[in-house]
Amino acid sequence: MQDEIRNIKKSFEEEIVNANDAGSLESVRIKYLGRKGLIAALMARLPGLPKEEKPAAGKEINLLKTGIQRALTKKKEEYKHTPARGELRADVTMPGTWPDAGRAHPITKILNEINDIFISLGFSVAQGPEIESEFYNFEALNIPLEHPSRDAFDTFYIKDDILLRSHTSTVQIRIMEKQKPPIQAIMPGRVYRPDAVDASHSFMFHQVEGLMVDKKIKFSDLKGLLSLFTKRMFGEKTKTRFRPSFFPFTEPSAEVDISCIICSGKGCRVCSHTGWLEILGAGMVHPRVFEAVGYPPRKYTGLAFGMGAERIAMLKYGINDIRLFFENDIRFLKQF
Ligand code: PHE
Repeated sequence: MQDEIRNIKKSFEEEIVNANDAGSLESVRIKYLGRKGLIAALMARLPGLPKEEKPAAGKEINLLKTGIQRALTKKKEEYKHTPARGELRADVTMPGTWPDAGRAHPITKILNEINDIFISLGFSVAQGPEIESEFYNFEALNIPLEHPSRDAFDTFYIKDDILLRSHTSTVQIRIMEKQKPPIQAIMPGRVYRPDAVDASHSFMFHQVEGLMVDKKIKFSDLKGLLSLFTKRMFGEKTKTRFRPSFFPFTEPSAEVDISCIICSGKGCRVCSHTGWLEILGAGMVHPRVFEAVGYPPRKYTGLAFGMGAERIAMLKYGINDIRLFFENDIRFLKQF
């Protein structure tokens, strides 16, 4: 009897360690404490024992029984919150929570797209400071102090002759100062204007300007280049129109329109029923600009152009208010 009690105790101790869920705990309980369990079987044999062994054996069986009960209760407490096998509470097939991934701002996307087109045509990308001197923003670009065209460009002055640049044409001057032709570069960047903010104006926006200088750059190169660009940007069917215009730093100068991407040139509200949308300014580099950077007279010719990234993005994505780009409304930004 003594040995049996010891063996049962031992096997119980092993089994309880491995009973790790409610179901197997219950089987262990039935095996030992059940009506037909091992303890009951021991008890049933008590009456048959020699008289003098009975009290000690009875006591030991009781000790084993209460020991087993206590161990089971304790373990049950531990596993109270663990469901039995086959009835997991977590649905592992449920979709997980996605971390909110960031994305590029629509203007960054458009800038990258514009850059890629020109890079594929052999242009390099140049950058320059946003805080500029009057020399780079005006004088070197043939905009003297008294010239009326300064008005639209006179931006935020930091000191007497230091201001936030109003176009990235400043970078054209910086490149030409450092480098002899051939030059073929674009200059993306932030620019500032003294414009009151409304649906189509902002005191800050982004430009991409371009410059090509060499010995025989012609106006037809400018036309070919920009026609190719607009087709790549807005689709093969896009037509390009050059309208005579004026910029102090180019001669001749042109404003470039594309056939309306909404009505394909038939006339609609977006193009004010003209069939055309203005997208950029361009021209042949003015000899005075070459003079300002110290290039020998008449040796080189060049083409230049400049466009607003916001305007291109608005046309391409059908956005009717420039302020949307700068308000940081996630609902707007998420759409790109
Ligand atoms: N710098 C002009 C602007 O900011 C754009 C431009 C660039 C026009 C080059 C002609 C040639 O409006």
